[in-house]
Amino acid sequence: MKLSKGLVFASVGASLVFLSVAQAVKEVLSEEELGYRNAPLYTEEAAPPEVQYPTEPPGTGKKFSRAYENAPPQIPHSVEGLVPIKPGQNACLGCHMPDVAKSVGATPMSPTHYKLDLFTKGGKKDELKIDPARYQCVMCHAPQANAKPLVKNVFKPEFRDPQAKERSTLFNRWKEGLP
Ligand code: HEC
Ligand code: HEC
Repeated sequence: MKLSKGLVFASVGASLVFLSVAQAVKEVLSEEELGYRNAPLYTEEAAPPEVQYPTEPPGTGKKFSRAYENAPPQIPHSVEGLVPIKPGQNACLGCHMPDVAKSVGATPMSPTHYKLDLFTKGGKKDELKIDPARYQCVMCHAPQANAKPLVKNVFKPEFRDPQAKERSTLFNRWKEGLP
């Protein structure tokens, strides 16, 4: 008696697995549909949807919260005239260096950017006053954009410290877990 009950469960289980596999198979996209531009993949003319970047000058934009704990914050102001960043020409430093940031109302760059030298041992840190690996700010900090997500984002960040939603805590935590 016991055995046949087990068999019933096993076969119900098996058909459920079969049904969910069949369901998943239905959602497979064709190769042509894989692009992000809502156009067949091999169409060359279709452009991605327009993206609206902030036009507000520094100090007037609305900041997005951090995408996750210690994510690089996005740039809430216009970067017109500030990029490209070249050797000897980095306008970002002019407002975000910790010694000037407060007076212009900008967020001082994180101490991880000038107190650590994780990537470029022996680089010209003293001359730049920052880790050379941080010089090209827009490599990691992208301007905020008014853009509809092309794919729904179901990721939900968790912040161990509520303050980390608006501020980096990495400099105090980066050694966590290291001997
Ligand atoms: C004229 C001064 C100025 C310049 C130049 C400038 N910023 Fe800013 N930045 C600000 C101010 C002020 C804020 C505060 C937020 C705002 O815009 O309301 C800010 C905010 C930011 C933030 C968000 C910080 C946070 O706490 O979320 C980032 C990232 C940033 N800027 C990056 C840059 C980068 C990269 C450049 C160079 C391409 C740059 N900024 C150039 C003044 C400046
Ligand atoms: C290699 C990637 C990278 C580069 C390059 C980089 N940043 Fe960051 N930045 C980050 C990350 C990641 C964080 C958040 C974690 C941390 O503190 O390091 C951050 C944090 C910041 C913050 C917020 C600090 C806070 O207290 O919340 C500011 C402002 C900032 N960066 C400005 C700059 C500027 C200006 C430059 C160029 C001179 C720059 N960053 C270059 C990755 C980068």
